[in-house]
This record gives sequence, structure tokens and C-alpha cells, in this order.
Amino acid sequence: MKEIIKQNADLEKIVLDVAEIAQYLWQNGWAERNAGNISVNINDIIRGHEFNDLSEFPIFQLNKSYIELSSKYFFVTGTGKRMRDIAKSPMKNAIIIRISEDGNSYTLISRYKSDTYEFRPTSELPTHLGIHQMIAQRGTNEKVIIHTHANELVALTHNPEFKNTDTINTVLWGMHPEAMVFVPKGVGFVPYIMPGTEEIAQATIIELKHHDIALWEKHGVFAIGETVFDTFDSIDIISKSAKIYFMCKSAGFTPEGLDSKQLYDLKELIKNFS
Ligand code: 13P
Ligand code: ZN
Repeated sequence: MKEIIKQNADLEKIVLDVAEIAQYLWQNGWAERNAGNISVNINDIIRGHEFNDLSEFPIFQLNKSYIELSSKYFFVTGTGKRMRDIAKSPMKNAIIIRISEDGNSYTLISRYKSDTYEFRPTSELPTHLGIHQMIAQRGTNEKVIIHTHANELVALTHNPEFKNTDTINTVLWGMHPEAMVFVPKGVGFVPYIMPGTEEIAQATIIELKHHDIALWEKHGVFAIGETVFDTFDSIDIISKSAKIYFMCKSAGFTPEGLDSKQLYDLKELIKNFS
């Protein structure tokens, strides 16, 4: 794996970016034990000759077909791997997969076949692949998906009042102007569903069709973006909103929030940039 990556400077950069972000997730207290996972669509930067012969690597069946992801390559973190270890040794804790031509299976690619014996991609692979497929279908440029257990956002979902997309966005956008500027599509609320399932994948995809981030009740977030850093920044900015909300509550008052005119003006401002 190390050698494959050393042959391709763009791929090496992605791997190092993922390692840097994994460190931030850990430092933010969002990544207890193996919490969280990351995937990056690396198809555009794979030149092909790195992977001429994949015959020695194992193939695993998927539970459904991801036909729009046919023959595409992804860099994905492994199940059970710790963000703090991904930060130190990304190549040992994440792997490249290639989806088969029919979209029904994937090949696990590593430097040595033996590296693949114990290694399996994240248990949230159905959600990651489902989102990458949705992005391929609509033809937008997001390449990166980060799932993390952002404490402040998870805490908000324990308040029954916030268990809907409209209320939660009004609170989050209202806490500071950057929230509207940099996360203009806001968060989509996903009611509690068993993690790792096709059901939670489907519910997440529905929300990410219209939002930058899906917020899983009592669990964490799934964010999408064009780069590893942009994707992390969206979570960081919206998480800051939740922190401000709780700081005000801890100080004994309910935050006033930006008013509708102020939010409207920010929306207009963004239109001029896009
Ligand atoms: P994995 O270790 O399988 O990536 O799972 C972590 C997680 O956060 C599940 O939701
Ligand atoms: Zn999780």
C-alpha cells in the first residue's frame, strides 16, 4: 500500500489529508475508540497502471449493486480502526477498494495480500457507498464523506424539541453568521435507526440530497464535501453553533439567535458569491 501511494503524489496528498483530519476528529473529542469513518472517491487521481493486476487481492460481495460506482476506486477507513491511529499510520488503518464492473462487489487492495486478511472497510460502508452513488447520479463534485460523533450536535438531538430539520437549522444558523455562509444547506435530521444498515443509509441519502450534513439522532453526523478540509470545516462550523447554544444555556439564558432579517441578508450575500 505504501509503495502504491508513493507512486502517486495526488493520492499521497489525500492520504496525508485524511490523516491530518483524523487527528482533528480525535482532538475534538469526537472519536472515542473506533468512532467515525472517512471515505474519499479517488477515482479521478488513479492513473490505472498502479493497479494493473488485482487478481491476487480478495473480493467481497456487497448487499446491493452500486452500478454508478462501477470500476471506481475509493480510499476508506477500516472497521474498528481508531482515528488517533489513522492520524499516525493512515496506510495501516485505511485501504483502497475498487468496485467491480457490475457494482455488486469490491476488491480490497493493499501492498501485500496478507495485509487484507484481517482488514475490512468500515461497518458504515452501505451509507458511504450509497452517498457516493447519489453524488454520481446527480453529477456534483463532492468526493469526501466524513462520519464523526460530534458531541455537541449529538447532544442537541436528545432534546425532543430539536428532532426535526427546520427547528434544528433555525437554532444552528442563528448562533453565528458563518454557519449560514459556510453550511448554507444546513443539516438534515435522521431519526434513530440501527447503525450500519441499509435503512440508515437510505434515510441519510434522502437528507444529503438537500443538506450539507445529515445529523443522526443520538449518534453523530455524516458530512459531504469536495475536499477533506472543506468537509471537516462544515462539521466544525455547525458544531460551534451547538457549542454556543449550550454555553448560553449553561449561563442560564436561552440564546436570542440571529433574527430572520439577519439570516435573510446572509442568504442574499451567499447568492452573490455562488
Ligand atoms: P467502524 O469502526 O466500523 O468504522 O464504525 C465506527 C462508527 O462510528 C459506526 O457508526
Ligand atoms: Zn458512528
